[in-house]
Amino acid sequence: MYALPDLPYDYDALEPTMSAETLQFHHDKHHRAYVEKTNELAEKAGLAGKPLEEVVREASRKGDKTLFDNAAQAWNHAFFWQCMAPGGKACTGQLKAAIEKAFGSVDSFKDAFTEAGVGHFGSGWVWLVTGSEGLKVISTHDAEDTLVKDGLFPLLVCDLWEHAYYLDYQNDRKGFLEAWLDGAASYLFGEQQMFAADGKGDGFKYPAPGGAGDKASKDAPGEQPRA
Ligand code: FE2
Repeated sequence: MYALPDLPYDYDALEPTMSAETLQFHHDKHHRAYVEKTNELAEKAGLAGKPLEEVVREASRKGDKTLFDNAAQAWNHAFFWQCMAPGGKACTGQLKAAIEKAFGSVDSFKDAFTEAGVGHFGSGWVWLVTGSEGLKVISTHDAEDTLVKDGLFPLLVCDLWEHAYYLDYQNDRKGFLEAWLDGAASYLFGEQQMFAADGKGDGFKYPAPGGAGDKASKDAPGEQPRA
């Protein structure tokens, strides 16, 4: 069984960029639903017990869209929580240098990230990734993620689904992305991911099945998930 990973901060820790209400719904309802559906479908597919990263890739290979969508969304959200920190973390050090090399400046990177997110039609994710061509910004549709994109390694991601921002920003996705980049994005985490891509340290991995987590389910017994 895959656990719903606990948030690495309190529900109100990302205010004012992201309200406690948004974060609580997002984690406790949306993310939980993806994790629970993944548990059900991975069992049926004979993949339960494998690392979630393998489940995502295997579901993609087999064309099992429902399992892929839920497993990838379980993974994407767990990664997304790590991409944020209270007050954000300044873009410094080697990540800043790599961003300046790829985009010219940190502000130009933020513009490119915002533009990609605003220009993305419908639900999905906007990513800062690294690969053989250096750093670049991409967006993916619905549940699609970098686990099924050969040669790309994720540094940061922001959720473009309306549930991520509608309570706080209504239809202003641009305002959400700008606030997120300045007030919530953890460039420190992005830099750790960049080091991992170079073989220095471990990159993010979803908690192993049967591992710790799911504090929220103990705090709110009997609550039903919803999509
Ligand atoms: Fe989401």
